[in-house]
Amino acid sequence: MSEQPNVSHTTASSDYDLSQPITSGTGLRQGLASYGDAHFSLFLRKVFIKALGYSEDALSRPIIGIINTYSGFNPCHGNVPQLIDAVKRGVQLNGGLAVDFPTISIHESFSSPTSMYLRNLMSMDTEEMVKAQPVDAVVLIGGCDKTTPAQLMGGISANKPIVQLVTGPMMPGSHKGTRVGACTDCRNNWAKFRAGTIDIEEISAINEELAPTAGTCGVMGTASTMACILAVLGLMPLKGASAAAVSAARIRIAEETGGIAVRCAEKQIKPQDVLSRESFINAITVLQAIGGSTNAVVHLMAIINRHPNVAGSITLQTFDEIGRKTPLLVDLKPSGENYMTDFHNAGGMPALLRTLKPLLHLDAKTVTGQTLGELLDGTKYVSVPLDSPAQCIRPLDNPLYPASSLVVVKGNIAPQGAVMKASASKDRRLLKHRGPAVVFTNSADMAARIDSEDLEVDADSVLILQGIGPVGNPGMPEAGMIPIPRKLGAAGVTDMLRISDGRMSGTAGGTIVLHVSPESSHPDSVFGVVQSGDMIEFDLDRRVLRVDLSDDELAKRVKARKEQVEGSPAGAEQAPWAARKKMRGYRGLYMRSVNQAEEGADFDFLTAAGPP
Ligand code: FES
Repeated sequence: MSEQPNVSHTTASSDYDLSQPITSGTGLRQGLASYGDAHFSLFLRKVFIKALGYSEDALSRPIIGIINTYSGFNPCHGNVPQLIDAVKRGVQLNGGLAVDFPTISIHESFSSPTSMYLRNLMSMDTEEMVKAQPVDAVVLIGGCDKTTPAQLMGGISANKPIVQLVTGPMMPGSHKGTRVGACTDCRNNWAKFRAGTIDIEEISAINEELAPTAGTCGVMGTASTMACILAVLGLMPLKGASAAAVSAARIRIAEETGGIAVRCAEKQIKPQDVLSRESFINAITVLQAIGGSTNAVVHLMAIINRHPNVAGSITLQTFDEIGRKTPLLVDLKPSGENYMTDFHNAGGMPALLRTLKPLLHLDAKTVTGQTLGELLDGTKYVSVPLDSPAQCIRPLDNPLYPASSLVVVKGNIAPQGAVMKASASKDRRLLKHRGPAVVFTNSADMAARIDSEDLEVDADSVLILQGIGPVGNPGMPEAGMIPIPRKLGAAGVTDMLRISDGRMSGTAGGTIVLHVSPESSHPDSVFGVVQSGDMIEFDLDRRVLRVDLSDDELAKRVKARKEQVEGSPAGAEQAPWAARKKMRGYRGLYMRSVNQAEEGADFDFLTAAGPP
């Protein structure tokens, strides 16, 4: 065991010396519960923790909290118990005391109405438990889509030393000799089933193979995207982004993480000191280079707006500007063909960052105390040859897509912006398109009519889904990948221009504009008054998304909608922005406090700036 570090604490006798004030802000002495007498508070704290069998020696060590997000409803976190064991080993090998504690755990499929609805709650749980408990540093174990952003949002706000550890991606499965994996192939195969090209027997067989092990979705979905972002932000070992959940490498990374956490505690390396504007510019560069999830744009804006020194210096526009000079280098589904295990075998983040070096701020700090450049130089990895078919990280001069895998568009229906993953478009002709709108006012309306034989729609139509923004449908569901109407799917149409104020799974693809802001439920929203038959114009190169109507006509429609809501109690009951005033519980808190997508869909009172 290494020498006892700087943040080690006092002996029992000095803890109870009434002539000595309790001044240390570390270990068990920090954040004492208030009983009026600080020495008694510490005495009581020790009484209770000794019930778990800890010795004075153990309690004198730096205390490393480990956030346990295991849940029987979260298969993406199925390996958390093993990871906790390994982190504890790493902490103890380095002279610390590891103490795990729970926070809520959120899985995509088991969080109604959506996991995003609960992200801010998880961030509050994380922030408050990190602040409340006597920890000198914390290892945040997360993985599934909303968990790592929630943890980082809470971690930045709590501003105690943190190190992140992701659960890692699942392995791909196999169907008829073809690899399959959650969740790009869930969607592709479901679309084939809807179109009648595969039958019920086959879709049932595929269901058994799409998630064959514990771990996060095995493509470049939101979980993998956020893992890569956490690595380049310097919050975890570089190899930690991609090692499979069920691999020995993952366990070794967990052990290493425990050691890093002890050193973070010793040096009191805090996230607000580590993270800078340059760190986030690096994160956005990686997001573009990996063809990452559109959800990461929302999460990054929420994370950035938690940081008192960075908030306001990065906007949606920054994502677009960085995208214009960043090529897509990683050939993973849904933009490409491979899985996260292939990315790991090709060298993972160390190899990608080595390639991206000319575009990165290498002097950005990391939780190891090294700069990103130093960390990168010190990380050994084994890759596959550049000309091997197994190589899925392209060189800068031979990218998969030359630039702008994620773009930000604006226009009269999205004055504050909307986001598209251009690299995941299946029919690139749609990147410059004009067509008549087919409008669905909410998810229920869409479900009721999308497959109707009577729906007036053809391949040139623009499918519009309103009412799924942060307030309109709490949690901004991942319903933005509007399904191709069945009659068009059966006729061979595989992609259409689709627009919504909601989100889309990071594992999905198509020509899909998301996060339209302000959302349709906002009283001033133009997107909310678009009607079927209005002509929609989209031009990716010019970054334009608009409805071909005069400003006068749009103003008239917005005014009429407001009068309808304000003029009758029934209207006010139906309009979320009016009805939210009377809602109780977490839903009321969410509805009254959530900000718009381009701000991160965080609660306004949790941002660094605080409530308006
Ligand atoms: Fe958890 Fe995809 S469902 S990462």
